[in-house]
Amino acid sequence: MKLKIAVLPGDGIGPEVTNESIKVLNCIAKKFNHEVEMNEGLVGAIAIDHHNNPYPDETHNLCLESDAILFGAIGDPKYDNDPKAKIRPEQGLLEMRKKLGLYANLRPTLVFDSLLHMSPIKEERITGTDILFVRELTGGIYFGERGRKNNDNYAFDTCQYTRDEIIRIAKMGFEYAQKRSKKLCCVDKANILETSRLWRETVQGMEKDYPDVTVSYEFVDAVAMRLIQWPSSYDVLITSNLFGDILTDEASVISGSMGLMPSASVGSNNALYEPIHGSYPQATGKKIANPIASILSLSMMLEHTYNLKDESNLINEAVESSLLSGYKTPDLISKDEKACSTDEVGDYIVKFILDN
Ligand code: IPM
Ligand code: MN
Repeated sequence: MKLKIAVLPGDGIGPEVTNESIKVLNCIAKKFNHEVEMNEGLVGAIAIDHHNNPYPDETHNLCLESDAILFGAIGDPKYDNDPKAKIRPEQGLLEMRKKLGLYANLRPTLVFDSLLHMSPIKEERITGTDILFVRELTGGIYFGERGRKNNDNYAFDTCQYTRDEIIRIAKMGFEYAQKRSKKLCCVDKANILETSRLWRETVQGMEKDYPDVTVSYEFVDAVAMRLIQWPSSYDVLITSNLFGDILTDEASVISGSMGLMPSASVGSNNALYEPIHGSYPQATGKKIANPIASILSLSMMLEHTYNLKDESNLINEAVESSLLSGYKTPDLISKDEKACSTDEVGDYIVKFILDN
């Protein structure tokens, strides 16, 4: 098969972890006889440095011409403490999601048996956890009207949703639930918010089309609590943009490290794959960043965009084997273990793929 991929390493540890995924992709291509064309583009703070724009037109065109995007991370501390900064790296990611129509963000939360002891939550609570968040990504309070009034002394952000935006996310949630354990949780704040009431009403109206799926409706504050108490009780969750942002960060620590979890942002034409950890500026260049979230994002790409299940499964197996064999970056190390560098973990995974 011919694969055409835009590679956007971005900021901080983005380039280091993406580099390991490129190594893995090249070895998968060699082993399974695929032809891969990769083209690099700038996004985030590095794009601001070069073009004064966090998502330049060249990068957008590159994404449009590609089947899929492998994304690293975005963000630089020099913008974080300046509330008056007019241009921010994060705007690049938001613009990208909007312009490419990437309306759904798939974020799995999994546990690895060999890492159960690394979780801040008791082993018996997390064993078997396998959650899929379907987060709405191009609407809600992230994209509503915002501004200042009264001489800058009053600020507002608006949350808004259309029924169609909710239907397309809910449809995806129902379809994943059908393929998995047939449980769907609609996360909202329908006791307070009008947008949440529209979510609930819309999802309720769709239940009859998916008679095999059991739907629960839960308030976001309660979900935040139960996710920690009984994570394994959830399967597929659908959320609005902001609720999903917060809950997926919360859920990412269940596995023991944020450096493990991948994600896919999908739309009708294109899809972007990225680790859910951020740019982790303190670690940049130190070779301590965990490449697994990026490598698992590549695996999601092979499965979702290209339907290459064998390739994707082999990557997942290689990742499990690296953890079992103790090839782990510092975030996954307990006291008496020895840590590996970012590229040593990548090299182990590449070797496993070639040998199996
Ligand atoms: C994420 C990030 C982004 C978001 C930022 C960087 C714009 O936190 O992908 O979760 O808030 O969506
Ligand atoms: Mn986030």
